Amino acid sequence: MIKTAFYDAKAYDMPSFIKFGNLKGIEFKFLETKLSADTVELARGCDAVCVFVNDTVSKEVIDRLYDIGVKIIALRCAGYNNVDVEQAYGKIHVVHVPAYSPYAVAEHAMALLLTSIRRIHKAYNRTRDFNFSLNGLTGFDLHGKTIGVIGTGKIGRILIDICEGFGMNVIAYDLYPAKDSGITYVPLDELYERSDIISLHCPLTDDTRHMIDEKAISKMKKGVVIVNTSRGALINGEALVDGLMERKVGAACLDVYEEEADIFFEDRSGHILNDDVLSRLISMPNVIVTSHQAFLTEEALENIAETTVNNIISFFENDGRCDNELCYRCGKIEQCKKQRNQKCF
Ligand code: NAI
Repeated sequence: MIKTAFYDAKAYDMPSFIKFGNLKGIEFKFLETKLSADTVELARGCDAVCVFVNDTVSKEVIDRLYDIGVKIIALRCAGYNNVDVEQAYGKIHVVHVPAYSPYAVAEHAMALLLTSIRRIHKAYNRTRDFNFSLNGLTGFDLHGKTIGVIGTGKIGRILIDICEGFGMNVIAYDLYPAKDSGITYVPLDELYERSDIISLHCPLTDDTRHMIDEKAISKMKKGVVIVNTSRGALINGEALVDGLMERKVGAACLDVYEEEADIFFEDRSGHILNDDVLSRLISMPNVIVTSHQAFLTEEALENIAETTVNNIISFFENDGRCDNELCYRCGKIEQCKKQRNQKCF
């Protein structure tokens, strides 16, 4: 049995991991706590650790995992901005789940957008209170509006298809535009200037951190709706609050938030929120926040568990080789993986 410390375990993700773990020979040690320098010792005696988006896999954590003999860090998500991949190189292999249900995330982006612009959240609360007034619920048609999609990978492209189904005009920006895709790519500034709605689907990197800042917002159309189901730090939260206060930004739909790590995924209803920016955002009638739930569908949870278990098994039974390794060696992390069938080190 391969022993795996499973950090930040939740009731909704344990059943599929137990199912696939039992099938393939992995014994999970489920831990409610997140991985951090304070909790790394809990992985002692384990061959692998399994982590999620808000676990801290810093230089210090990696070095201590290495010291206690952990061989592989298995991310049960696609994004890996919380892992110091460079530090891990040469010590511990890092694998992820490149795709589990891009439909789940793209559909959630559209769900947030529709909820926001048709005021469904307000209508729901009103009718539960037998308030059938329509005042203040006026929305707008998506048909004929322009959406700017930033990042046209798996999720961005599905959202594009959905938007085309709504009769929207789609423009896009990507650092690596997809050839022969039929997607209308424009420079980023033009996307900001022309879009009624902007949806973010690029990864969080040094280049994209705070890409939506005061300067970017100043270039946008008045009343623009910003949708973020990617990573919170793509947006500078204070700049977004200012944009909303100045009525430049018409609405924001956020599934992710820069400082979500110590807030999201837990019931904090009995506490006073210690984050002024998030408190202000949540208090605004034109902001919808969900707590990083875009991935949360039955299909995605099954796929995540199956791929993660296969990643760990493949690593231990295939001499350290795994298709889904995040390779630091050539500095291109994901692009490299697609061209090789060898291990990173
Ligand atoms: P993907 O890797 O298929 O696509 C990402 C796209 O972004 C690629 O086309 C890439 O060329 C592009 N890109 C890279 N750097 C860029 C830049 N500087 N500017 C513009 N485009 C750039 O990734 P996928 O599967 O579509 O996921 C997108 C993001 O969604 C992930 O990075 C992750 O952060 C987020 N995500 C959020 C989830 C949630 O539950 N809210 C669940 C899964 C993913």
